[in-house]
Amino acid sequence: MPETGEIDEVEIVVLVDRAAKKQGLATDYGLSIYVEPRRGGKSYHILFDTGPSFEILRRNADMLGVDLNRIDRIVISHFHRDHYGALSELLDNVSRQGTIFVPEEPWFALHVLKKARSLGWRVARVQTSTPVAPGVYAFGPVARSLEISLKIVLKDGRRALLVGCGHASIPMILRWAGRLDRYELVAGGFHLKEEDDESAEKLGEMLTVMKIGKVMPLHCSGHEETFRKVLGEKFVSGGAGTRLVLL
Ligand SMILES: [Fe+2]
Repeated sequence: MPETGEIDEVEIVVLVDRAAKKQGLATDYGLSIYVEPRRGGKSYHILFDTGPSFEILRRNADMLGVDLNRIDRIVISHFHRDHYGALSELLDNVSRQGTIFVPEEPWFALHVLKKARSLGWRVARVQTSTPVAPGVYAFGPVARSLEISLKIVLKDGRRALLVGCGHASIPMILRWAGRLDRYELVAGGFHLKEEDDESAEKLGEMLTVMKIGKVMPLHCSGHEETFRKVLGEKFVSGGAGTRLVLL
């Protein structure tokens, strides 16, 4: 299916991360990002991962003015608790139904997906690239990672990439995403926390050569100072409370 940029702008709000950029927000080891693409006065409400705890997700969403009741598209990057742990309670606490996009239906999460279906949610298994909303695509799983990522395409063709944990590596995920020359933002977990500084330096250099506009390492990325040094102006210091608008 051709991936067309149909949106005028997109707002991205980090709801859960291990760092917070605003006083009063709770932190946790996990990731949840709210994505709101807009076109012609209409907006769409997407949650990319839920983080591990619904209590923290709800508290931070409330503080940041994100209404969880409006969410009708949930993308679970992969089935590790730090990315989907809050899903079951989230479903208990929202009034809308919609679609949950997943890379697989693992046995240990079957009860959550069964519950989702019984509450009226549709479960869509992503196998290549699947539209989530106009201009927004879930794609993957990349390599053998069983992890899907989110690609946002603006009207003029510029793009943003959101990654849960980056198990397949950021360069590999970008290669899958395609059109490497058009990325305005790459954000999410870069899976380098346990790696040495040199790996972060190499990735930073690679993203610089690719001319990525902004890079926001979150969650399991680590090496904040190295990324800041290598990426210079491209580096965005992100955490719960970071809000970006691409237009
Ligand atoms: Fe993770």
